[in-house]
Amino acid sequence: MSNYHIKHLEEYFQVYRKSVREPESFWEEIAEEHFVWRKKWDNVLDWDFTKPEIKWFKNAKLNITENCLDRHLPTRGDKTAILFEPNDPEEQTEHITYKQLHERVSRMANVFKDHGVQKGDRVCIYLPMIPELAVAVLACARIGAIHSVVFAGFSAIALATRINDSDCKLVVTSDGSYRGNKTINLKGIVDAALEDCPGVEHVLVVKRTGESIDIKKGRDKWLQPLLDKAYADCNAEIMDAEDPLFILYTSGSTGKPKGMVHTCAGYMVYTAYTFKNVFQYKEEDVYWCTADIGWITGHSYIVYGPLINGATTVMFEGVPSYPDYGRFWEVVEKHKINQFYTAPTAIRALAKENLSYVEKYDLSSLRVLGTVGEPINEEAWHWYNNNIGQKQSPIVDTWWQTETGGIMISPIPYVTPTTPTYATLPFIGIQPALMDEQGKEIKGNQVEGRLCIKFPWPSMARTIWGDHDRYRDTYFTAYQNNYFTGDGALRDAVGYYRITGRVDDVIIVSGHNLGTAPIEDSINEHPAVAESAIVGFPHDVKGNALYGFVILKETGESRDRDNLRKEINQQITEQIGPIAKLDKIQFVSGVPKTRSGKIMRRILRKIAGKDTENLGDISTLLNPEVVKEIMDNAL
Ligand code: WTA
Repeated sequence: MSNYHIKHLEEYFQVYRKSVREPESFWEEIAEEHFVWRKKWDNVLDWDFTKPEIKWFKNAKLNITENCLDRHLPTRGDKTAILFEPNDPEEQTEHITYKQLHERVSRMANVFKDHGVQKGDRVCIYLPMIPELAVAVLACARIGAIHSVVFAGFSAIALATRINDSDCKLVVTSDGSYRGNKTINLKGIVDAALEDCPGVEHVLVVKRTGESIDIKKGRDKWLQPLLDKAYADCNAEIMDAEDPLFILYTSGSTGKPKGMVHTCAGYMVYTAYTFKNVFQYKEEDVYWCTADIGWITGHSYIVYGPLINGATTVMFEGVPSYPDYGRFWEVVEKHKINQFYTAPTAIRALAKENLSYVEKYDLSSLRVLGTVGEPINEEAWHWYNNNIGQKQSPIVDTWWQTETGGIMISPIPYVTPTTPTYATLPFIGIQPALMDEQGKEIKGNQVEGRLCIKFPWPSMARTIWGDHDRYRDTYFTAYQNNYFTGDGALRDAVGYYRITGRVDDVIIVSGHNLGTAPIEDSINEHPAVAESAIVGFPHDVKGNALYGFVILKETGESRDRDNLRKEINQQITEQIGPIAKLDKIQFVSGVPKTRSGKIMRRILRKIAGKDTENLGDISTLLNPEVVKEIMDNAL
């Protein structure tokens, strides 16, 4: 029997050692005992980080939805698979059983097929957090189509870029979406995006808000009537272990988003195994992850990980502040949530509000609290621990990435003793390494460096859609034979890891990864702007906020500065989305540059963070004189 469910620290160390010494036999046992395969693998792992090429469970055949749905039908058919909690607390909660989910997925899969979608085709899903989003994801997986979910907060231009990058032929969207007391016209955004997407043949529209929308003849159709007519069973396409399951875009250091490609078998095995252990999920539990399925957290730990384990997973459409700041806790009480997984930015926002919002509710069902997306500061950690967990529920600070597919460094609750702000120990099978700037591994404890992973794990992304060279260059060239994460970390005296933040050009704002390059590109398109540089600065709710240093063209000099600020943010909203708006914009005559012309962001970061005591040696700059000017006028 494999150690599928780890129960004490001794066992963790024992299993961890085995997973590192004999990774292949370790993962083979897990895969063999806990999943449904159409055909077993010939070889557990083939890998070469120089190419890079990674293949897990080579030549195995499977369909992940048989693991999420079909296999549960005999034993869990009437168990709630998805518990949908709408934006409006007055609207009824929807309980979708495994049987019903199986049927809904089958119908949608058949509708996709009727619209010409075949194995390997890409389908873009641009939906709010309603059950159809999970159903559409699974329906793609059912027929072997590759889903590309785009977070429904992205703008039309950002959506079009993603649709075109992976050449999606079908888009699933809704008329509108609810967010707190606002309604957003999603279909209008899709219409605008599709003006630049000639490859899209069909748009299927879910009715959610009932507002009036344009239906373009021949292209757009309401989904419900098609589902009603569709056959309620759909054979699962037999997939190869390494066939792509989905593409999910993440920001990088150039303007173009990276379409991370995840494949079927390894992703299935790893997300299921981590879900079981990191949340200590037990059969009767109700599990809630507040993320959006537009991000990797939602893919792995709302949809796939929980459903593979036959769990009850909550989908929440709303926001933490509507109708008031007690909404999360109201939902916890209402559904007797056992595992609650959220982001530090949400914790910080709620911690600012009156405690009576928490105290009104019975939170005694909670057994595990989780956090993800950015480093959690000590204050937020304690607030979460004291007030939500009432010091009874361990906090799992889970470090991982879109690229890693699943949780990589995290405590196992009731197993690993926790320390505030530490993600603690590597998960089973994960071999972290800290590197110095020369590319050498830093061994021993009480050290700090750049975080790499030395050995493949089953759910790692296999490539960037359409750009394998970029995949290699971004992740596998900085440190030979290692996957480079882009994060810094320290390892303390007992070997616990603490993630210190990004060391590249990505800034995490409210848990969303934002590359500086696409934002700068967008600003630079403004006719009055010559050049710009973006850095992050500390913000007490968002973690980081964005500070823009903008150089105007001569023709822009006479413009009203406040109007320009508004226009710049408007432009960013249109091209990327409101999450990328700048909190501060300072107009400058130049930005500090090295003699080779590279912007010295380190100096700008210090100025933006009001930490200018130790700027270091600036005399080697191309233009040291601008530093004083920028400091004198800093916002
Ligand atoms: C950051 C989210 C500190 C990190 C699953 C990483 C974290 C990036 C943590 C990936 C954590 C995620 N502590 N930092 N527990 N979890 N991060 O791709 O910088 O949206 O590289 O995946 O978030 O963000 P992504």
